[in-house]
Amino acid sequence: MTTTHRPKVLVVDDDHYTRTLIDHLIAETSEVRLAADGAEARRLFAAEDFNLVLMDQRLPADNGIELMREFRARRPHLVGILMTGYADVRDAVAAVREGMFDYLTKPFEDLESLEAVIGKALELDRAYREIDGLRARLGEDGTPAVIGQSPAMERMLGQLRQVSGLDTTLLLEGESGTGKDLVAKLVHAWSPRATGPFMEVNCGGLPESLLESLLFGYEKGAFTGASAACAGYFEKSDGGTLFLDEIADMSPKLQSSLLRVLQDHQCARIGSTQPRHADFRLVCATNRPLPGEVKAGRFREDLYYRINVVALRLPPLRERKGDTVPLAMHFLDHFNEKFGKACGPLTPAAVDTLEACPWPGNVRQLKHCIERAVALHPGGPVDVMHLCPSGISQADCSPIEQDAEPQQRAEDIPGYEEARARFEQDYLRAILAKAEGNVSEAARLSGIPRQNLYVRMKRWGVVTD
Ligand SMILES: Nc1ncnc2c1ncn2[C@@H]1O[C@H](COP(=O)(O)OP(=O)(O)O)[C@@H](O)[C@H]1O
Ligand SMILES: [Mg+2]
Repeated sequence: MTTTHRPKVLVVDDDHYTRTLIDHLIAETSEVRLAADGAEARRLFAAEDFNLVLMDQRLPADNGIELMREFRARRPHLVGILMTGYADVRDAVAAVREGMFDYLTKPFEDLESLEAVIGKALELDRAYREIDGLRARLGEDGTPAVIGQSPAMERMLGQLRQVSGLDTTLLLEGESGTGKDLVAKLVHAWSPRATGPFMEVNCGGLPESLLESLLFGYEKGAFTGASAACAGYFEKSDGGTLFLDEIADMSPKLQSSLLRVLQDHQCARIGSTQPRHADFRLVCATNRPLPGEVKAGRFREDLYYRINVVALRLPPLRERKGDTVPLAMHFLDHFNEKFGKACGPLTPAAVDTLEACPWPGNVRQLKHCIERAVALHPGGPVDVMHLCPSGISQADCSPIEQDAEPQQRAEDIPGYEEARARFEQDYLRAILAKAEGNVSEAARLSGIPRQNLYVRMKRWGVVTD
C-alpha cells in the first residue's frame, strides 16, 4: 500500500509546550490533531482514523496507558508511542508489552531521534494496514496470501494480475525462497482455470526415469514394477495448471519430450502409443537464469523460446526493503496461531535488525527465523535477541560486500575494552528486557548482586534513575 495522502497523528498531552513542539516537528509531513486531555482525545479518536497516537503517560484525569488500552480495544493494530516524564523503565517496558510501539522520555533532548521514532511507528502502521487489508481481500476463495507492498513487488503483482487471466505459458525467475511456488499458486487462483486442478512437479532431484513416468504416466506392464496403469501429471492437470519447478534441471531427453507435448497438446503414456489430449496451462520456475543455461548447452533453445512467452522476475528480498516487516508480522501471526502463542509486537530494535539483514535465503529464511523465534519465545514483545542468535547469523546481518574478505579486517576489530563495553551493554539490556524491566529479577537471572547490577546499568544508561 502506498499512502499518497498524509498520515494522521493524534498527540495527547496536557503540556502545551510538548504538543506544540511535536506539531511543529511533523506538521509538514503529517496531519496533526492535538488534545490536552483524555476527553478531547476520546472525541477526536472516535471521529477520525489515526495512523499514530502519541500519548502522554500522565494526563489530568486519565492514565495514558489505560487510555491507549481503551483505544486499542477498538483498533487492535493501533500504533502508539508513550511519552513519559518519569523515566521509568518498568512502565515503559509494560507499555511496550501492551503493544505500544515505543516510548519516549520527556523532555525531548534529541529531536532527530524523536522524528526517527515517529517515522518508524508510521511505517509499522502501514505494515499493519497492509496485512489487515490483505486479510480482508483474502476472503474465502483460498487465494494464497502474498505480501508485497514494495514497488518491485507491486510491479510484479500488477503484471501477474494482467497475465493470469490469459492462457499463456509463464516463466518465473528468481532466487530460491523468493516466492516462486507461491506465485505459481496465485496465477492458478486468479485464472479461469481456478476450479481445475493445480499440479506441481519439481524437476530437480528426481531421476530422469522417475520424472518421465510421473509426467507421462504409464500403462500396466510398461516396465518392471508397473503393476497397474497410472495417469501422468500432463493428464492429471487437464483443465488446470501444471507447475514445473526447477525446469533447468530437466534432462536433455525430457526437455525434448516436453517440447513435443507442448507443440502437439497431446501426450502418450509410457508403454502406449495412444495419444491423449492434454489441456493444461504451463507455469515454469527456475532459480538459474535460462539464457545462461542455453548458452552453456544445458537447456534447449527451442524449448526456452516455447516456455518464455511471458517471463516474470521475482525480486530478492534485499531489493524489497518495504516488505520485510509486513512479511515478518504476517509470519508472526501465522506461527502464533499455529503454536497457540502470543508473541509480539516487534520492538523497534527488532524492526531495525530485520530491515538491515540482507536475507540471502530470501522470504524462506525470514519465515524460518520468525518460526524459530515464536517457537522458543514464551510470549510478549519480540526483540533482537529472540531473532538474532537462532534466526539470523551475524554473517547474515552484516551488509553484503562484493569481494569481501572472509576474515574481519583488523581495523574493524575494536580494542578489548571497547569490545567488553559493547558486550556488557548488550548483555545488560537483554537481561533487563528478559526480566521485564525488573532490576531485582534481572539480578536473580544474571547472578550479579542487585546493587552491583544497578550501578553497571546506570553507568551504561540502561536505566536512567
Ligand atoms: N510474498 C510473500 N508473502 C507471503 N509469504 C511468502 C511470500 N513469498 C514467499 N512466501 C513464503 O516463503 C516460503 C518460500 O517461498 P517459495 O514460494 O517456496 O519460494 P521459492 O519457490 O521461490 O523457493 C513459502 O513458505 C512461502 O509461502
Ligand atoms: Mg520453490
